Amino acid sequence: MKTIDIIHDEHRALASVLQALRFVVGEIRSGKLQPDFRLLAAMVDYITQVPEKVHHPKEDDYFFPLLRARSAKASALIDQLEAQHRDGTRMTGELLQALIHYQSFEASGFAAFDALLQHYLDFNWQHLNLEEGELLPLAREALSEADWQALDTEFSANFDPFSGAEGEYETLFRRIVNMTPAPYGLGA
Ligand SMILES: [Fe+2]
Ligand SMILES: [Fe+2]
Repeated sequence: MKTIDIIHDEHRALASVLQALRFVVGEIRSGKLQPDFRLLAAMVDYITQVPEKVHHPKEDDYFFPLLRARSAKASALIDQLEAQHRDGTRMTGELLQALIHYQSFEASGFAAFDALLQHYLDFNWQHLNLEEGELLPLAREALSEADWQALDTEFSANFDPFSGAEGEYETLFRRIVNMTPAPYGLGA
């Protein structure tokens, strides 16, 4: 079941950028790091674009509809996950607005950006756990071998879990790695 591996890999890729963002913002909060707005913008861009353009479409367009057709039990959970995808899009938009405000009014803008980010991190953690802990077990139970093959074909059209289907986010990901301070990245 390549599909399950790909879902796990993409979750881990997203989680690694979110962890790096949590680290950077924590260092700014404690005064150990001056804000690098190019890095923060690249990170917010990544956590907006990659779920929305690479990961969620595969779940929304292929995985959820197929499982919905096969398992009545999964229906309420899928409703919840679809709603979370929409909420996630709204929240990353708000995060970008808060970042723009933070960049313009550094002193007053940090707290609001930080609060939104912590909220988003908790929300996203819960979403990934729901998918891995509840959705995938239901799918293992309900989907046939032919179903998995059909999903594997759709899910396999992927360059790698960090970089999108055609490597379109590779440069953005590399920029983040290079700018993020150690130990999360290669930056100073
Ligand atoms: Fe999802
Ligand atoms: Fe997911």
